[in-house]
Amino acid sequence: MRIVLGVGGGIAAYKVASLLRLFTEAGHDVTVIPTEAATRFVGTATWEALSGNPVSNSVFDDVHQVNHVRLGHEADLVVIAPATADLLAKAATGQAGDLLTNTLLMAHGPVLFAPAMHTEMWQHPATRANVETLRGRGAAVLEPASGRLTGSDSGPGRLPEPDAIFDAAMALVHGQTDFQLPLAGKTVTISAGGTREPLDPVRFLGNRSSGKQGVALAIAARNAGATVRLLAAHMEVPPPPGVEVVNVETALQLREAALAAAADSDVVIMSAAVADFRPAEISDTKIKKRDDTADPVITLVRNPDILQELVERRNQGVTGPAADRQLIVGFAAETGDEHGDVRAYAEAKLQRKGCDLLVVNHVGSDKVFGKDTNSVVILARSGSEPQEASGTKADVSAAIISRIGFELNQVSHRA
Ligand code: CTP
Repeated sequence: MRIVLGVGGGIAAYKVASLLRLFTEAGHDVTVIPTEAATRFVGTATWEALSGNPVSNSVFDDVHQVNHVRLGHEADLVVIAPATADLLAKAATGQAGDLLTNTLLMAHGPVLFAPAMHTEMWQHPATRANVETLRGRGAAVLEPASGRLTGSDSGPGRLPEPDAIFDAAMALVHGQTDFQLPLAGKTVTISAGGTREPLDPVRFLGNRSSGKQGVALAIAARNAGATVRLLAAHMEVPPPPGVEVVNVETALQLREAALAAAADSDVVIMSAAVADFRPAEISDTKIKKRDDTADPVITLVRNPDILQELVERRNQGVTGPAADRQLIVGFAAETGDEHGDVRAYAEAKLQRKGCDLLVVNHVGSDKVFGKDTNSVVILARSGSEPQEASGTKADVSAAIISRIGFELNQVSHRA
């Protein structure tokens, strides 16, 4: 596929180098057209080296090839990233002062804008009107991500992650008209890994959990356009770029972080393995084995059930979004036994915990922990049909995130 990648003059231009790599690695032929201002952030040499094609932003280069007509005509897709307020305005008013704006006027194929700018610029009525104009003409304009911006400010205005722009571009080319990222503008909190409950300065009671599923969920949610907060409890894998990370040790710390994060989250996913019990006492010094005294007996006390508490607080409207505005998702690792099968235990857990969705893993001896593949059933408290998903943890996460997007949509229609 022939892609024109128009780069606007914003600091996020550096992230577009990764987007370019995604396109070229997928086998596409990419011509980069940076604006004059964009070359002040990332030089022409970078775009030429990464794309393998000559780069210009002038209509007066290679005039004999009539580039200002040819590039737009031949492109199967035009992607503008970062789409600055200035570029959106120029595109909306049909200006043609340089090679990129000429190409936009000549484009026959789909056009995708990935905006990035300060929140006030994004929310300014002039920009809103320009975005509406472009959408009205059939161009696709992504919602920017929320989060830390270049200065000390934060809010909507971050360039969506390169993976997310890539996915939206491919969806657009495949004729998906509802290409808008399903979790755009949403804040998603995800707990991942396993808590550790200290016994003494060197020992702990812990849970087997690599954090891979939580990280895969964070990537899928981020790629779906969400602002993602990862509550990380001893993960064996690094957190992905583009998500906010809060590190926690114990169940009590995770509880505190989860309740705080829930206050402004549209979705909370509890995929962490939380220790149900903690030692009643933590020894200040290392517990020694002694011949003159009996071996220690460890007394455990129960940890709070964070998932259940999140649901109760939401339902009572204690903090955060109203009950009909927040979706809470639990995970259950189940085995069957002589008293019931996995499904029966999972249904009971869904009722007991009261969450909206319960993702059920059937755990055998080595079926799930630390593995890259997974097979789950998603149960819904609304009673809608259980949904099965299997494959890599990335595949399963994409299915879970897409189901969450669907449920949120239902909720907003009901509200
Ligand atoms: N969970 C939680 N707080 C706890 C224990 C579990 O928030 N103290 C959450 C987990 O993150 C998961 C869900 O509850 O989303 C189910 O966890 P699981 O350990 O399977 O359920 P339990 O309530 O511990 O039930 P049981 O051990 O009796 O099967």
